[in-house]
Amino acid sequence: MLIKTPLVSAALESEVTPEAVYLSRRRFLSAAAGALAAGATTAYADESRYADVEAGASPAWFASKLPQVHWQAVTAGDEALTPYSDVTRYNNFYEFGTNKGDPARYAGKLEVEPWSVMIDGEVGKPGVVSLEHLVQPHRLEERIYRLRCVEAWSMVIPWLGFPLAELIKHAEPTGAAKYVRFETRVAPEQMAGVRSGFSLIDWPYVEGLRMDEAMHPLTIMAVGLYGRVLPNQNGAPLRLVVPWKYGFKSIKSIVRISLVAEQPRTTWESLAPDEYGFYANVNPQVDHPRWSQATERRLPNSLFKPNVMPTRLFNGYDEVASLYGDLDLRKYY
Ligand code: MTE
Repeated sequence: MLIKTPLVSAALESEVTPEAVYLSRRRFLSAAAGALAAGATTAYADESRYADVEAGASPAWFASKLPQVHWQAVTAGDEALTPYSDVTRYNNFYEFGTNKGDPARYAGKLEVEPWSVMIDGEVGKPGVVSLEHLVQPHRLEERIYRLRCVEAWSMVIPWLGFPLAELIKHAEPTGAAKYVRFETRVAPEQMAGVRSGFSLIDWPYVEGLRMDEAMHPLTIMAVGLYGRVLPNQNGAPLRLVVPWKYGFKSIKSIVRISLVAEQPRTTWESLAPDEYGFYANVNPQVDHPRWSQATERRLPNSLFKPNVMPTRLFNGYDEVASLYGDLDLRKYY
């Protein structure tokens, strides 16, 4: 992301289950074949979309979840999926550098096993929980969502995850919980961007949601994409995905989830409050001070095929409009 001033895998080491990845790909392919047979024009009709999914190691906790996945729980209609290669090589993950290729190049260094998450604040059941225990109670769903970055590019990504609402309910929020605050891991030895003296970000990367936004059924905690475990560059092993907000709200590699009474101070808002708001709802009518938000460039694109399309309010997820009622979206951008 840009601001005015110039301004990081190991799967469960022993557990390598390429079969799980293979099996999940078979599912995609059979879904594609089914769609083709039915003459459908869904993303699944385009089998080649899965052609570039790299096989990878699946930790045991993830592999055990695959047989119960609810595939295509949410789709993006007939919008084609962004190829795996773009989803995993064109990233924003400033902990690993500011260039789009840096996360794919350097995030392999991030040790994601073991991983634990602290759940604290206004909850009846605070504690530190291992990733395996955190994910265990939840059935994974495939959610095919548009991702619209504030930088005016977009993708369509098949995530695997579960509703954040389920996690929050498990923690038993108290009546004082009005917001959810998320924190990314800070591991300078594994994260070149954190070590860098040039970064203006006050680590950890922090994001937040209002409680009703966090409880909305579209809001998920993702642990995978394209039927495989989340690649490090996409925020392994646990990230947030809020499809109606600019991508920067979808914080990666989460180690702390706090239910709080006050609106949290978030990373980009703290850095450049005139440019990036707390709400960050996708809105074609509220331009960024330095560029228009009316359109977006859908990846993959090229000079000859710019693939520019109109941006939609709430990124096309109209069902969230009721969360904002009379809120002045120009003021609360
Ligand atoms: N989370 C952390 N911790 N650090 C980041 O730099 N970048 C955000 C978001 N989450 C970021 C982050 C931005 S700007 C975007 S657009 C999305 O991640 C990109 O997600 P992707 O790389 O999986 O497409």
